[in-house]
Amino acid sequence: MNTVLEDMRDGVREDGISRAGEILRSGGLVAFPTETVYGLGANALDAGASARIYRAKGRPSDNPLIVHIAEWDAIKAITGDLPPQEKLLSDAFWPGPLTMVLKKAEAVPYATTGGLDTVAVRMPDNVIARSLILAGGGYIAAPSANTSGRPSPTTAQHVAEDMDGVIDMIIDGGPVSIGLESTIVDLTEDIPVILRPGYISREMLQQVVGPVEMDRGLSADDPSVHPKAPGMKYRHYAPKAPLFIVEGDRERVQEKINELTAAEYGAGKQAGVIATDESLGCYAHALVRSIGSRDRELTIAQHLYAILREFDLLEVSVIYSESFETPQMGTAIMNRLMKAAGHQVIFV
Ligand code: TXA
Ligand code: MG
Repeated sequence: MNTVLEDMRDGVREDGISRAGEILRSGGLVAFPTETVYGLGANALDAGASARIYRAKGRPSDNPLIVHIAEWDAIKAITGDLPPQEKLLSDAFWPGPLTMVLKKAEAVPYATTGGLDTVAVRMPDNVIARSLILAGGGYIAAPSANTSGRPSPTTAQHVAEDMDGVIDMIIDGGPVSIGLESTIVDLTEDIPVILRPGYISREMLQQVVGPVEMDRGLSADDPSVHPKAPGMKYRHYAPKAPLFIVEGDRERVQEKINELTAAEYGAGKQAGVIATDESLGCYAHALVRSIGSRDRELTIAQHLYAILREFDLLEVSVIYSESFETPQMGTAIMNRLMKAAGHQVIFV
């Protein structure tokens, strides 16, 4: 298949959007930018189109898709009775990086919800995404536009690495602004539960709706408790080289990483280090990359997936990373990094 590339780095182009909308309305696949990561879009109300997404990604069919809308009214046709928290949260955070899990209406095929009676809904805050959703019929299922198991794409080049020749179109809107997938909150219980942490933190949600819980399956402490979002149980974002997170006092972390990279160097191999702007000069004997600045946590989120992809190309033998418990997004950043590391942590 020939994958068409539409360049919208300078802004929305209506001719391209209408071509993309036509592809979506006839059951095809279009990758597009959102503020979180690039999505792989298909008509969410067309079971055949959703099935095509699973095939293109190599994604297990029990892992449900998020339905993207562009106008609040659209929620009514795809959901059952709405709990009061829905309105409070959509008023506060939509359009934006928040996904709500709600009871599904019949209009949404089980092919889209992975067989569940609930549906995840999000209204993205990206003009290209919003125009595309409207042009494509108003309901666009969109997982991250990566091959299953690879880091989510934060640029159109990342999408092309995984999807060129596999899907109908890629819309290039430049690098995304957040870099980690949306916060998912389940509103089907009395107390809202965070199924996946993201840019919108637990504290931000609690200011709007009162108590919010974290899904117990998110912590790795008890392997018998499975995450409630089916996708969170899969091994994700795993780089080719083993990845270890080194945690503890800043200076001791640097000492430990230097000790480990020196040992690697002594054995004739080259380690990779995930550092920050502040610590870039503190490491030797390794390929060192800065993920961003500790003073601007968004820069760390924005570069996390790109740095994992880059280390795959650099073919290092092992990767050591500092840990990034930043104020707002730290939970989300460490959730993704821990998954990439298979929860391998070295405490110093
Ligand atoms: O930021 C995002 O949310 C991006 C962009 C493209 O919008 N999309 C995204 O989709 O991250 P995906 O498919 O990569 O992740 C969707 C997650 C999975 O973990 C899935 O299991 C969960 O949402 N999910 C979807 N529907 C659900 C439901 N009804 N109940 C529980 N979890 C659900
Ligand atoms: Mg994904």
